[in-house]
Amino acid sequence: MRVVVLISGRGSNMEALLKAGLPVEFAVVISNNPAAKGLDIAGTYGVPGVVVDHRRHASREAFDAALAAEIDRHAPDLVILAGFMRVLTEAFVRRYVGRMINIHPALLPSFPGLHTHRRALDAGVKLHGCTVHFVTPEVDVGPIVIQAAVPVLPDDTEASLSARVLAQEHRIYPQAVRWFAEGRLFLTPQGGVTVADAPAPWPVLISPPTED
Ligand code: GRF
Repeated sequence: MRVVVLISGRGSNMEALLKAGLPVEFAVVISNNPAAKGLDIAGTYGVPGVVVDHRRHASREAFDAALAAEIDRHAPDLVILAGFMRVLTEAFVRRYVGRMINIHPALLPSFPGLHTHRRALDAGVKLHGCTVHFVTPEVDVGPIVIQAAVPVLPDDTEASLSARVLAQEHRIYPQAVRWFAEGRLFLTPQGGVTVADAPAPWPVLISPPTED
């Protein structure tokens, strides 16, 4: 199973995947941002890094075509978006449907888009978390593979909440990729997700205790 990872920056989810001992071959890490720290991290794991700089392309379509050409050179079974901060064209997404996944730092369908932790705090939600989902043309909407929930604590800041969520991201993304690599993760004809032989209870949620 060959995978390609797309990043834009820090690369901590990518590193969690590289560390996880997954039964996959990491063919390449591609960044749209030449300054992405994750490119250096990939190198320390012996995985080549390639830049496809969106600023060098005149349109979204031209960038996506260059990105697809680079991805396809590596013939991946799975394309993993790990903090990849570009909105992709519908044609690009359709090319990889059923074999491209993303991690989003919120419990979708709540808080799609940016600044999820700030928005969760502002909304006063008591549970927040992260989601791995298949990528479909609409941003942050595809079929959900796995989620992890964390409590939002009274004195949380954006930084403390995002750190609590990130720790869970680093658990659920390797789990999702492992399921895919083992051939256990399927999109159903109805547009849902099935995981063969998933352990119960699944997916796992944290339930806060009550006082009585
Ligand atoms: C993560 O919070 C991820 O959920 C979101 O972007 C962030 C990327 O962080 N899509 P990193 O580059 O993986 O450290």
